[in-house]
Amino acid sequence: TYVVTEACVKCKYTDCVDVCPVDCFHEGPNFLVIDPEECIDCTLCVAECPVEAIFAEDDVPAGQEHFTALNAELAKKWPVIIERKEPLADADEWAKKTDKLSLLER
Ligand code: SF4
Ligand code: F3S
Repeated sequence: TYVVTEACVKCKYTDCVDVCPVDCFHEGPNFLVIDPEECIDCTLCVAECPVEAIFAEDDVPAGQEHFTALNAELAKKWPVIIERKEPLADADEWAKKTDKLSLLER
């Protein structure tokens, strides 16, 4: 499966949503997740994300492994998003920052 990681927090560009053939993205207030039970590993979303937030489960960067479980957990709680929308305000500023996990709203 593919996993959305920290770079997405407070950006939520949503370019990824448009290309997913199985609508497996779920939307929270300031982050998206992929439902691991729906993702078919097509890889299309990876190149779409302007902040390179999406990785194959086996390639999640060191220190961000917990995002795999977080995607699975939050995909069960959050609604599906099927269309691209405007990024969050200040997304371009937040795109340059790291250590955003504590800012993730549920
Ligand atoms: Fe959707 Fe493909 Fe990305 Fe999985 S890898 S989330 S199926 S676009
Ligand atoms: Fe997030 Fe990138 Fe999609 S910022 S919403 S994973 S395009």
